[in-house]
Amino acid sequence: MEYAEIMKRKNEILSRPVQPIPKDKLEKEHKLYAQRCKKSIEIFEKAKELIPGGVEHNLSQNKPFPLAMDRAKGYKIWDVDGNEYIDYLMCGAPIMLGHGFADLDEKVIEVIRQKGPATGLTSEYELLAAAEIIKHMPGVDMVRFLQSGTEADMAALRIARAYTGKQKIIKIGGSYHGWSDQLVYSIHIPQTGAMESKGIPVECFAHIVDVNPNDFEGLEKAFKDNHAKGGIAGVMVEPIGGESGAHPVHPDWNKTIRQLCDKYEALMIFDEVVTGFRLDIGGAQKLYNIIPDLTVLGKIITHGYPSSGAVAGKKDIMKVCAGSLGEKVFVGGTLAANPISMAACYHALKLMEEHDAIGKATAYANRLTKELNNLFATRPDLGFFVYNFGAIMHYMTTAFFSVDLKAQDALMQILTRKQIADDYQVITMSHGLCTLAGTRMYTCMQHDEAALKQTLQVWEYLLSLIPKN
Ligand SMILES: Cc1ncc(COP(=O)(O)O)c(C=O)c1O
Repeated sequence: MEYAEIMKRKNEILSRPVQPIPKDKLEKEHKLYAQRCKKSIEIFEKAKELIPGGVEHNLSQNKPFPLAMDRAKGYKIWDVDGNEYIDYLMCGAPIMLGHGFADLDEKVIEVIRQKGPATGLTSEYELLAAAEIIKHMPGVDMVRFLQSGTEADMAALRIARAYTGKQKIIKIGGSYHGWSDQLVYSIHIPQTGAMESKGIPVECFAHIVDVNPNDFEGLEKAFKDNHAKGGIAGVMVEPIGGESGAHPVHPDWNKTIRQLCDKYEALMIFDEVVTGFRLDIGGAQKLYNIIPDLTVLGKIITHGYPSSGAVAGKKDIMKVCAGSLGEKVFVGGTLAANPISMAACYHALKLMEEHDAIGKATAYANRLTKELNNLFATRPDLGFFVYNFGAIMHYMTTAFFSVDLKAQDALMQILTRKQIADDYQVITMSHGLCTLAGTRMYTCMQHDEAALKQTLQVWEYLLSLIPKN
């Protein structure tokens, strides 16, 4: 679906009242969910005493309680009560080959058995992994491995400032670049500023310049206005738009950022934590032929194995990370580039290429997007729709991410719309679909006809619970 069509349909959803599930039906569904997930509830009750909020992970459905998972294989996951789900969370994006992919797991197990988990020193696998990334990504000549996407984003800011000698970073509203102090600004929803920044001193945002997505004028103004105030060192971009495309970008947006970065001598930083090795084997940069100066990578490069992150880019820029003490940009991590993660990275990327994992996951996502839109077309009163960027699918039911903050009742709108999206998600989850945040689905190369059929059935059931207008 094209950008203009997505925006038009989002606005249509926002212009109508939300469509709740009638109370009696919703209560019945909650009861059913609680009955089939007794052990998850027990674990949650115990976890609340030990872990703040009773849950570490905030990606999936955590209301009314989070599910405790037992195991995963292929495109399926099972909770501790033995309920089976079609997984569209895919651990928040990294799983492309399918869960528990034997050829990958065996290689990693071999490293553990033969080499041990870590020495704190370089291993040959680090080189192999770096070479594999460099082979595919046109904007990458050198790679510095770190331990998470958050760390890699932090490092990218530091490298951009060190290289350009400038101070300011443009961050696009609504985008997510991890949880470091400087970047928890206008996250999730554009224009929310420091709303989610409890515990972060406001000074941390002194050099962050917030620009709204697709605000072409505002973007150039930010470059001009900050010229005398330390200058723009870099622009941090999620190439398919904030929140992995929940805020899609105008077809000219990335191109314009590239041009303005060149004009004002700033670095273009692509955060490819989700798009790298999911959208295309060469990332968004290859697919769209827009070459960033720095690339941030994360969870997908190790296919879900821990300690996963990297900042990468052109040689002359990346060289600021090398040199003697006091001269180089300080980045690091004790367990960064450990042999397990590096072996996982090297073999995962090789296997993904060999199996055309991205091609298969994309073909399935294209099909499911089409079929779901056909199904949603049977309920024009709702306006639901789906769009995808390859193996990254977004479904819009209440569009709570896109509420205009200038509206008088914006906060109430967001809360109400989010609540109803959560209610829908309880039902899809309870009937066997695991999705992300009530708005997103990631696919892997193993999703098949049976998964497609069952997914459509669950959505058909959800639609049947919403009264016709
Ligand atoms: C685009 C993007 N950047 C950065 C991150 C942070 O990565 P991590 O959770 O590994 O710190 C995420 C996580 O979802 C992400 O989606």
